[in-house]
Amino acid sequence: MSEPFLIGEAMTGGYGRGADILHGCTLSVDRGEIAVIVGPNGAGKSTAMKAVFGMLDLREGAVRLGGEDITALSPQARVAKGMGFVPQTSNVFTSMSVEENLEMGAFLRRDDFRGTMAQVYDLFPVLKDKRRQPAGELSGGQRQQVAVGRALMTQPKLLMLDEPTAGVSPIVMDELFDRIIEVARTGISILMVEQNARQALEIADKGYVLVQGRNAFTDTGKALLADPEVRRSFLGG
Ligand SMILES: Nc1ncnc2c1ncn2[C@@H]1O[C@H](COP(=O)(O)OP(=O)(O)OP(=O)(O)O)[C@@H](O)[C@H]1O
Ligand SMILES: [Mg+2]
Repeated sequence: MSEPFLIGEAMTGGYGRGADILHGCTLSVDRGEIAVIVGPNGAGKSTAMKAVFGMLDLREGAVRLGGEDITALSPQARVAKGMGFVPQTSNVFTSMSVEENLEMGAFLRRDDFRGTMAQVYDLFPVLKDKRRQPAGELSGGQRQQVAVGRALMTQPKLLMLDEPTAGVSPIVMDELFDRIIEVARTGISILMVEQNARQALEIADKGYVLVQGRNAFTDTGKALLADPEVRRSFLGG
């Protein structure tokens, strides 16, 4: 009877009245686990994340969180249930300060969120130093920290990240992955899309290779890294 903490099961659907982009796509992650989605450009990775977050009407399939069917819930209602989502683009308010961005993240909370803000600053100390600066003046890596921090302000049980290391240097990427591991160790589940497939699969408990809206390969990160076909087709040999 124990199913994963989050499961997007056999999801089929697309945008509006357009053709289906996802074809029976299944993604799941357990508590405190890191699940990584990789695959070619246009494979539907971001679409699958949006489907899990409720930004897409599924024609078939279901999304369950903690055993509860949330398929019909709005994104905002899913946030209230414990989902945090950092989209691939436009994930910070550039004209607002770092601290204001974090405050925006807490919009659903009625309680005192200063403790959570202190935790975010502990995780990303540079954000504390720059808290009065407009987020638009930060480096790419620092902006991604703001975006992740903002999502953490809702105290999610599941953190969904769409290409958190896009456009950052290898050093900044390693650093960000270390922070993501740290978040997972607190019991938060991570569902993450990554372009840096090899490095991301190294830290993944579970990996998904998506191709044309379908699950092509699913295994532990380690097993996918060792699979000759996955290596040849998706990891550059
Ligand atoms: N808002 C949208 N409206 C209509 N079609 C869309 C929309 N967003 C994406 N698509 C289409 O859905 C398909 C999958 O796109 P998606 O962005 O999910 O791919 P991806 O795997 O995230 O790619 P990338 O690696 O480039 O981020 C593409 O054919 C794309 O053109
Ligand atoms: Mg994408």
